Amino acid sequence: MPLPTTLTIRRPDDWHVHLRDGPMLELAVAATARQFARAIVMPNLVPPITTRAAAAAYHERILAALPDALDFTPLMTAYLTDTIDADEVAGGFEDGTFAACKLYPAGATTNSDAGVTDIRRIHPVLERMQSIGMPLLVHGEVVHGEVDVFDREKVFIDSVLTPLVDRFPGLKVVLEHITTEEAVRFVETSPENVAATITAHHLHIDRNALFAGGLRPHAYCLPVAKRRRHRDALRGAAVSGNPRFFLGTDSAPHPRSEKESACGCAGIFTAPVALECYAQVFEEEDRLDRLEAFASEFGPRFYGLPPNEGNVTLEREDLSVPDVIRHADQVVVPFKAGERLRWRQA
Ligand code: NCD
Ligand code: ZN
Repeated sequence: MPLPTTLTIRRPDDWHVHLRDGPMLELAVAATARQFARAIVMPNLVPPITTRAAAAAYHERILAALPDALDFTPLMTAYLTDTIDADEVAGGFEDGTFAACKLYPAGATTNSDAGVTDIRRIHPVLERMQSIGMPLLVHGEVVHGEVDVFDREKVFIDSVLTPLVDRFPGLKVVLEHITTEEAVRFVETSPENVAATITAHHLHIDRNALFAGGLRPHAYCLPVAKRRRHRDALRGAAVSGNPRFFLGTDSAPHPRSEKESACGCAGIFTAPVALECYAQVFEEEDRLDRLEAFASEFGPRFYGLPPNEGNVTLEREDLSVPDVIRHADQVVVPFKAGERLRWRQA
């Protein structure tokens, strides 16, 4: 079949994004809201979002930073700590402040120092979440220095997540930004209340991208990209039509100076080109017909929300990705900077 020259799909949502705060917020919000109607907003600010009051205030700041022309709904999350109050979390879910809780193992990634040091400490909170249907979003990596960085997701699945799902069989769990074949199999063989998000960048790059001709800080994120066979397993999952794999960009902008550094931050800024990158993968896999379900249907279904009403159109035209994106005094290098993509949002 000849390729379509345009593709119109129901407006998508981003089920995992970092919108930041302060000077970066406007740039990040504008990029996400241009493509997505709603987004699950990560709470890893400094200090992290652990109360309803903090989430409500952050929600206001996001809406204040949103360009007038864009229609966008941020869905807020609570950052689990060893001592977080179960009543605060559950109350926030019941009154609509929180859509979910995020579990960062302490030390796993950017701004995770206040995260959970031992999952047993939050068992009472998880019990409450299970009883009210509140989703748990998981950064699935162990943090022990002795575990190889490329094995951290697999070890987490075996040593933390599998026992967790056994202990809380009714808990809704999203394993975020999966990077391995093992994570794909884990979700495929788990019950219906377990799902995963897949980023655009993990569908494009494998770990060679980190070392292509030299050290490439803009390809560095956590969980780090793995071998090609893992990337290909993620592609298979994304285009499979299995409703428990859905779109979550994990777009995570950092100032250029903090990426291009002796100790560069983890995070890839995909928001400006996310939908284009996903479309390219679905095209390469001959499954453009399944993009809409992955991007716009399976996420709302899992979260129990209605799908969006509006549409977006992608045109099959080359898109030259800029080298940098600037807003006020912020300078960020986007994913695919200086490259060409084959689709462009109309
Ligand atoms: C994220 C960030 O910068 O906040 N970084 C990343 O590499 N994905 C944190 C996270 O989601 O791990
Ligand atoms: Zn993230």
